[in-house]
Amino acid sequence: MRKYNIAVVGATGIVGQTLLKVLREYNFPVNNLRLLASAKSAGKIIEYDGKTYIVEELTKESFNNIEIALFSAGSSVSKEFAPIAVAEGAIVIDNSSCFREDSDKGLVVPEVNFEDVKLNRLIANPNCSTIQSILPLKALDNKYGLTRVVYSTYQACSGAGVKGESDLKRTINGEKSKHFPHDISKTCIPEIDTFLNDGYSKEEIKMIKETKKMLHKPNLPVSATCVRVPVLNSHAVMIMCELDKNFTLDEVRNTLASFEGIKVLDSPKDHLYPTSIIANGTDYVYVGRIRRDLSSKNGLLLWVVADNIRKGAASNAVQIALRMVKENLI
Ligand SMILES: NC(=O)c1ccc[n+]([C@@H]2O[C@H](COP(=O)([O-])OP(=O)(O)OC[C@H]3O[C@@H](n4cnc5c(N)ncnc54)[C@H](OP(=O)(O)O)[C@@H]3O)[C@@H](O)[C@H]2O)c1
Repeated sequence: MRKYNIAVVGATGIVGQTLLKVLREYNFPVNNLRLLASAKSAGKIIEYDGKTYIVEELTKESFNNIEIALFSAGSSVSKEFAPIAVAEGAIVIDNSSCFREDSDKGLVVPEVNFEDVKLNRLIANPNCSTIQSILPLKALDNKYGLTRVVYSTYQACSGAGVKGESDLKRTINGEKSKHFPHDISKTCIPEIDTFLNDGYSKEEIKMIKETKKMLHKPNLPVSATCVRVPVLNSHAVMIMCELDKNFTLDEVRNTLASFEGIKVLDSPKDHLYPTSIIANGTDYVYVGRIRRDLSSKNGLLLWVVADNIRKGAASNAVQIALRMVKENLI
């Protein structure tokens, strides 16, 4: 297989470090690797596949000869540098929220809408909570037709990057919080990203818009409440959805279990349901607590857990790139 010159932008961050780990685990055909971060990290040494690499400061010249650029350094960095990488001839897969709403760019989860990679050389990786939710929703939409979705999230501290992880550890040790607006070791916080005038947070609006875009259903009614919880890693999402056609729960379990990327864990009496502990370090989306919603016709409740740094960010990006390589799209 041909090998590719790859840049990782934000290589010192939580997602960047995991991108490197996943590239290696997936045996990605890497030729040259360029590791980029802010000036603060320039000169740091990072090991990859037995070789040492020196982290370079990201500049406009960083993308010379790069064929695939994986961005995970926040929206402002992506906004400035992703178009430069594309102009230099690279395929960009961007973990930030910068381009997700652009109608001329794909927002892609490979098991759900891989065909959308063809829209543009710049491909957006969706929000972490939306990635894990969209797999079961797509499986259900294919079979029964989705008519409504309501999300409640329980998001781990690693979702806020190095600062979020440190704040959980710091507050557990009795120190004051520096990142979250309250002591995350002692409370759930129903505030992720900034609040808008209608009372929704930006994170909630991201989930709503991204769900409609990936399912190609602009009129689907979707709502969301996003909450940070005192868990280090792996997000949980409670999904209430309504379906067009009637269903049996056994049929729903089979439909979900046969969808690529999903594992059903649903034996509550044996204490078997998805947990962060089970999801950590894996690339599956785990679904359990599957039951009828007693308040609506054809309503269904699902508890969905996945590793937000892996399937919610790094692994999804690498899976997009690997499938593009395999299908000769790069
Ligand atoms: N954490 C998650 O669950 C998750 C999930 C999905 C998407 N994302 C997205 O992925 C991106 C990274 O998140 P993260 O959690 O990995 O954050 P993080 O741990 O804080 O890492 C941020 C990375 O960006 C680099 N960076 C910051 N400013 C830069 C600049 N001006 N120029 C070059 N590099 C710069 C940092 O380099 P230095 O070390 O030099 O500062 C670091 O490598 C964000 O857009 C985030 O929204 C995160």
